[in-house]
Amino acid sequence: MSERPNVLITRPVMSEAEKALRERCDVTVHENEFGIPRPELLEVVAGRDALITMLTEKVDAELLAAAGPQLKIVANHAVGFDNINLADCTAAGVMATNTPEVLTETTADTAFALLMSAARRVGEGERFLRSRQKWIWGPLMMMGQDVHHKTIGIVGFGRIGQAVARRAKGFGMKVVYHDAVQLPPEVEAETGAERREMDVLLAEADFISIHVNLTEETRHLFGAEAFGKMKPTAVLVNTSRGPVVDEQALADALKAGEIFAAGLDVFEREPDVTEDLLQLENVVIIPHLGSATVDTRLAMGMLTVENVFAAIDGKLPPTLLNPDVFE
Ligand code: GLV
Ligand code: GLV
Repeated sequence: MSERPNVLITRPVMSEAEKALRERCDVTVHENEFGIPRPELLEVVAGRDALITMLTEKVDAELLAAAGPQLKIVANHAVGFDNINLADCTAAGVMATNTPEVLTETTADTAFALLMSAARRVGEGERFLRSRQKWIWGPLMMMGQDVHHKTIGIVGFGRIGQAVARRAKGFGMKVVYHDAVQLPPEVEAETGAERREMDVLLAEADFISIHVNLTEETRHLFGAEAFGKMKPTAVLVNTSRGPVVDEQALADALKAGEIFAAGLDVFEREPDVTEDLLQLENVVIIPHLGSATVDTRLAMGMLTVENVFAAIDGKLPPTLLNPDVFE
């Protein structure tokens, strides 16, 4: 390639990654703190060789057409890629990549942080102390649910689900999972996890942690019916994608005491949060921080740059999502 490739990054990423990219490319970073409004995005993509997108940008035929024929790659700075229409990318001859593996352990840590905070009422306790109310240690005060030696049901037993299982094993928990596929015996042995039908898992688990991709099959997988099957002492954790949970149904279940608590990193209509959830004490909510550590965001940035460099060099990007683009 004679000219320097032209790359658009839709949000600022770790400076080391941007610097690596600038060694070989002309880079435009869109600095708007709330992301690029769609009409503006459709304009600024024109003529780019590569786009670095986030889970906040929808990548579809319209965007790819607006970019133009020299676009080689859409490199998503996220493991989830429900924002990308892969068939549209393939039809346009554009490679699409994501950032798997580098964030597995960090996201599993986030799931466990939410699980423990929700079970032991950490957010509620914090709010209570900060309210400066008078208090004294009490034998019946803010009792939560034990985590150790309880049963965790992991829904979606891929990389992150398995990393949560290894943590749970360390807490002496029994691990059951639901997944479309039966895992190889060595994975089940390493994590000590046993497969269950969904309904059995819902009834058996004290904790449920969601680790599925968002697809038409998983949208609202957790709704009123699922909450009705769960234990009244159960805690639900979601670090996957918001729409997997019917958020109003969850708020209703939490309010009615149908389940004990929830810990959420993701929301159905992100960045909005269902108003009822904001009013409830028995839900811990954080703003989509699953992979948000310094080390992991650096690793995600560098992997994204590696994918872009491979694409502009005519090589296979390390984490290509649509290999059929070469057919
Ligand atoms: C974050 O949600 C990601 O998909 O990386
Ligand atoms: C609690 O602080 C205890 O000592 O039991």
